[in-house]
Amino acid sequence: MVLGTGRLEGKVTIITGAASVICEATTWLFAEHGAYVIIADIQDELGHQVASSTGFDQASYWHCDVWDETQVKETVAYAVEKYGALHVMYSNAGIMGPLPASWKWTQTCTISPLAVNVLGVGSGNQGCSEGHGGW
Ligand SMILES: NC(=O)c1ccc[n+]([C@@H]2O[C@H](COP(=O)([O-])OP(=O)(O)OC[C@H]3O[C@@H](n4cnc5c(N)ncnc54)[C@H](O)[C@@H]3O)[C@@H](O)[C@H]2O)c1
Repeated sequence: MVLGTGRLEGKVTIITGAASVICEATTWLFAEHGAYVIIADIQDELGHQVASSTGFDQASYWHCDVWDETQVKETVAYAVEKYGALHVMYSNAGIMGPLPASWKWTQTCTISPLAVNVLGVGSGNQGCSEGHGGW
């Protein structure tokens, strides 16, 4: 069922971090416009809820920690196996990092966001280029 313009009709899309807030809304929007959306996140329960709450057949959930390049490649493989191609990789997953109550800087404060926000996007790009996504 497509309610929108159909501009994304048949476009196979992975959206990382789509179990909540910005990309939960993006999932709805993409599905409304006809895309097949793979919600790739680490929050399994929420991710499944988002997939079923769209009411669209074309949204599904897949566990993927973007820090782990193997999981990213598996996500791309899932998309290609399920839908035959991958057209869009929307790398949204991001974290602020732990904020210590004392506001003292620690290496973890910087390393965790770097790993997810920067390396996670790199893994996404690599997973797509190696995953025969059809682009
Ligand atoms: N909401 C804002 O006002 C705002 C402002 C500026 C930038 N941003 C950035 O936009 C992005 C989305 O924001 P949001 O408000 O929807 O954030 P959010 O924290 O609600 O959602 C981020 C999602 O990423 C997922 N995630 C975290 N680590 C992950 C990992 N390793 N692998 C896969 N998924 C992971 C989380 O489970 C969550 O579902 C983030 O990168 C955020 O930093 C948000």
